[in-house]
Amino acid sequence: MEVEKVAVLGAGLMGHGIAQIAAQMGKFEVRFRTRRQATMDTGMSMIKDSLQKFLKKGLIKEEEADEALGRIHPTLDLKEAVEDADLVIESVIEDLEEKKSLLSEVDKLAKPEAIIASNTSSISITELASATNRPEKFCGMHFFNPPQLMRLVEVIRGVKTSDETVDTVAEVVKRMGKEPILVKKDAPGFVVNRILFPALNEAMYLVWEGVAEPEDIDRAVRLGLNWPMGPLYLADYLGHDTTLSIMEIFEKEFGEKFRPCPILKQMVRAGLLGRKSGRGFYNWTAPR
Ligand code: 3HC
Repeated sequence: MEVEKVAVLGAGLMGHGIAQIAAQMGKFEVRFRTRRQATMDTGMSMIKDSLQKFLKKGLIKEEEADEALGRIHPTLDLKEAVEDADLVIESVIEDLEEKKSLLSEVDKLAKPEAIIASNTSSISITELASATNRPEKFCGMHFFNPPQLMRLVEVIRGVKTSDETVDTVAEVVKRMGKEPILVKKDAPGFVVNRILFPALNEAMYLVWEGVAEPEDIDRAVRLGLNWPMGPLYLADYLGHDTTLSIMEIFEKEFGEKFRPCPILKQMVRAGLLGRKSGRGFYNWTAPR
């Protein structure tokens, strides 16, 4: 199937970047939908900021930025967002019930031939697919933060996903200037998060056990492993609520060795979520 029209649902840290890259790199017509105007305003302003960064670096021209913005059509109406879409990318809050109820609505409103993909980082694709009547046209499409810069997209097969769906979505990923990898089996955390989040959690245990200071742990991993960001800085960047929910799923699925670090639980309870709340291991309100 030829994809021309894409709907992106959700305008958070991931959704806004996915909508932007679909319009900017993929040159798709993008319907961009949130439930509330305030979220849409924040999402659109993040897109504009990001386009400004590309412009400033000379990576795109003024006309390209304007054209990309012109291809993004914001709406609060779900029907308007998905009725013409060839591909719907869901990127709303990481909550099973919220996602299932939205996906079941999308299934009723979208064209029968449309593909529905979820950007979930940790929920089973097979389970999300079961909220629709088209599990063969459903797959995972997992972007990395920030979606504007990270080159990988994991394309994840649910139990019933068809080959055609996987192939079509992989082509869309390439048109967005990204590289797809196929996750053949719907396992928790897919590939990258299965490796990354236990490492972030382990860095937090080093703090909890008093082995080293957060700044030194981050410096160690940047200098010793060449990571662009240290693990605690990266965890702040991604949001500790995300890390906790992923670790809780890992603990449930894989057992004790994936137990979330007590510091992580405390920080989430205290609202110290990292970049998004202004404070985590680091202070994100101070000038960097
Ligand atoms: N749009 C456009 N450009 C952006 C941008 C955005 N949203 N964010 C940053 N940039 C640009 C900046 O303008 C800057 O340009 P410059 O070098 O010309 O000044 C450049 O990118 C570098 O930005 P910063 O100086 O702010 O920061 P860094 O040098 O640290 O680079 C980074 C940013 C590319 C994000 C790099 O730090 C990195 O690769 N970090 C690791 C990120 C990572 O691991 N992501 C995956 C997380 S796992 C995940 O997402 C899965 C999910 O399920 C949770």
